[in-house]
Amino acid sequence: MSSTNVHGAKSPNSQMPNSQNWDQELAVSIRGLNKWYGAFQVLRDINLDVGVSEKIILCGPSGSGKSTLIRCVNRLETFQAGTLTVDGIALTDDLKRIEEVRREVGMVFQHFNLFPHLTILENCTLAPIQVRKLSKGRATEIAMHFLERVRIPEQAHKYPGQLSGGQQQRVAIARALCMNPKIMLFDEPTSALDPEMVQEVLDIMVQLAREGMTMLCVTHEMGFARQIADRIVFMDSGEILEIAPPREFFTNPRHPRTKMFLGQIL
Ligand SMILES: Nc1ncnc2c1ncn2[C@@H]1O[C@H](COP(=O)(O)OP(=O)(O)OP(=O)(O)O)[C@@H](O)[C@H]1O
Ligand SMILES: [Mg+2]
Repeated sequence: MSSTNVHGAKSPNSQMPNSQNWDQELAVSIRGLNKWYGAFQVLRDINLDVGVSEKIILCGPSGSGKSTLIRCVNRLETFQAGTLTVDGIALTDDLKRIEEVRREVGMVFQHFNLFPHLTILENCTLAPIQVRKLSKGRATEIAMHFLERVRIPEQAHKYPGQLSGGQQQRVAIARALCMNPKIMLFDEPTSALDPEMVQEVLDIMVQLAREGMTMLCVTHEMGFARQIADRIVFMDSGEILEIAPPREFFTNPRHPRTKMFLGQIL
């Protein structure tokens, strides 16, 4: 995958057209995706392309399908119709393909999901050693590099339970980065944090965005969205109702449900 920015520029917030006709490479391509839980349709005809280095913010009311959609991207969820291609690999039931995709996609969850019985360092070296087959020495070197980047190298030998929520989430981000992912998925990474810890996690994410990481992020932190998003996607009842660059999304939302949602959260 090339590192070319789909916008031909590195600046965030570049104005993106709603309809896409990019000829550059796509990090994620979702076409006609439909998913049901039994008789309940949770995702309806989702179409979304994410360019390499693009930052997409997903928002919408509770239960609208945001988590389900991003969990489809690393096949934590299956779907019944449509196609989903990640870094050129079409996701099917083929386990080899699923593993290939998961190696390229990092995910950060609301509740950190660190292994409580492993130290911070061990949390960060586990997958690089087991999946990427790195030596312990090399994996440790990489882990310390990313723990420094998230500004907590001094916590390396502690256990998750000994860290604050904000620190644990920064470890979760470092752990994902240790796998050298091409795409990062975030599912409400700050919504379980005490208010004073939100900014320290957002700061790390802003830094990551500025370095050109491809990001698909569910969040209701609209200041952050305004700061880093190339496009904001609004979902309701399993559907994408609106996709727009931040300036347009906030100043001129088109769909009445987007307006109502923004009225409630801003
Ligand atoms: N395993 C499941 N079985 C059945 N229904 C489910 C399952 N997981 C989610 N749902 C339903 O699918 C819908 C979408 O859920 P999802 O978690 O994707 O929403 P969300 O937009 O992330 O909401 P929130 O903002 O509360 O996190 C909800 O109605 C939810 O109850
Ligand atoms: Mg959710």
